[in-house]
Amino acid sequence: MGNTWSRREFLEFLGRAALSVEAVSFLTGNPLAKAMSSSSLGFAPLEPTSADAVSLAEGFDHSVLIGFGDAINEKESFGHNNDYLAFTPMKPGVTNDGVLWVNHEYPEPFFLVSGYDGSQPRTKAQLEKERAAVGGSLIRVTETKGKWKVRKNDPLNRRLDANTPIPFAWPEAIGGAKQALGTMANCAGGQTPWRTVLTAEENFQDYYGDIDSKGKWTAGRYGWEKLEKRSPFHYGWVVEVDPFTGKAKKLVSLGRFCHEGATVTKAKDGRAVVYSGDDANDQCFYKFVADKADSLEKGTLYVADTEKGKWLALDWASQPKLKKAFKNQTEVLVFAREAAHLLGATKLDRPEDVEVDPRTGHVIVALTNNAPKNNHFGQLMKIEEKGGDAAALEFKASTLLAGGPENGFACPDNLAFDPNGNLWMTSDISGSSIGKAPYEKFGNNGLFVIPAEGSFAGKVIQVASAPVDAEFTGPAFSPDGKTLFLSVQHPGEKSKGPNKLTSHWPEGGKSAPKASVIAVSGDNLKRLAMVQGDSTVGKKVAE
Ligand code: FEO
Ligand code: CA
Ligand code: CA
Repeated sequence: MGNTWSRREFLEFLGRAALSVEAVSFLTGNPLAKAMSSSSLGFAPLEPTSADAVSLAEGFDHSVLIGFGDAINEKESFGHNNDYLAFTPMKPGVTNDGVLWVNHEYPEPFFLVSGYDGSQPRTKAQLEKERAAVGGSLIRVTETKGKWKVRKNDPLNRRLDANTPIPFAWPEAIGGAKQALGTMANCAGGQTPWRTVLTAEENFQDYYGDIDSKGKWTAGRYGWEKLEKRSPFHYGWVVEVDPFTGKAKKLVSLGRFCHEGATVTKAKDGRAVVYSGDDANDQCFYKFVADKADSLEKGTLYVADTEKGKWLALDWASQPKLKKAFKNQTEVLVFAREAAHLLGATKLDRPEDVEVDPRTGHVIVALTNNAPKNNHFGQLMKIEEKGGDAAALEFKASTLLAGGPENGFACPDNLAFDPNGNLWMTSDISGSSIGKAPYEKFGNNGLFVIPAEGSFAGKVIQVASAPVDAEFTGPAFSPDGKTLFLSVQHPGEKSKGPNKLTSHWPEGGKSAPKASVIAVSGDNLKRLAMVQGDSTVGKKVAE
């Protein structure tokens, strides 16, 4: 089913859904198709493909907005391997003019320095190129007549990278300092009601290594520490950024682990709540309940016991096990992963992105896979907080949708709800596994929609397929739902050399692949994602 359907199976499904006459009309191009009820999908799901292209289902278009190395102003350029995207309108209600925050998750040395594959010792110059390619970008983007453009040289355009000084929002020093140098491993993120962006530092240990609470050292994959040592405790946080000034702070209160993202919602009493997965095999799922409605600097960090349905407080003062193992609350937060395991939190199958269903309040968590546990396809987990309150201490966890050929997707990663409440999902089958068992049927990574209503409600429909070796990341809707901003990350990452490129996206020919942000549009996107007949949504206010 889903994206693996053949045309015949698709017709059969439509038949079973008692829509056969209408559906066959639609599929054979009969004008009656236009008269189909709004409960029908209106287009055929995209077949999986291994094409080196952004392939889209009928009625969807795209254009490339910006890519690696493009200048954003006189001095700075767009970083590498764009991931999470967050659109903040210039003013609330504006839909065609805003600041786009873009995470640059990690550098691919091969594409940064010609001829360098990362196996030779790094020079200082190479290190600086890598440091400049990560972190995040802020870019002013505007839409005219349906076409989005980056406003080059806009005063709001700026970069944060691995050398940007960022203070800790915490009364005590962290790793011996009140501020960190830089942000790296920025994977997914979130947006706050007070118009800031959260960017999550995920695989921070790759850069300066890591040290556990017992002093055990693990070297960094990139080995930056060989050229300059920095405290590993300065990384692995959620960073809050004001998109209009670039001012940033590291939110120590949310704990230090491989934060996939940071998804903000509100408790019944108005306090801000943030959900965050720790994306590694057998790591945990966390939530932070702030003390206030408009600040994340203070509050309580919890970790999930999904079997008993309990949120366990990572609170030194009230947990004897934590008091025994750590000196104070700062240590608990610095070693949050170890503290979570001490409390008996549930070890999950790589919790990635999280979204709160705007219709039901259910918390949807992508568990991408856990190969050592024989979970190759992952699943979507649903969390129902007791009483529908995000600050509740109890919840019920269940599986919403299991990945696998029968449901048409594998390895769910990023999630986004459109303004109509349909769930969009991207997949992350690793570059070395694409097209190989047990993933042959899925083709390249994809973008999927799970409609909220109609005869396809709850079904997984493939909408787009990514170029060779790439994954789609960071799906973000413009406030009117007319545009889906989407990252195309790591195309051609399995290239073996400048003459052995596996992808030439987006420029084609013999060009090197270039991680880029695209803007997806089209009539079928509008029909699915734009709220019809609501004058408060989709209203365009020109600057
Ligand atoms: Fe950066 Fe877990 O994806
Ligand atoms: Ca991810
Ligand atoms: Ca992933």
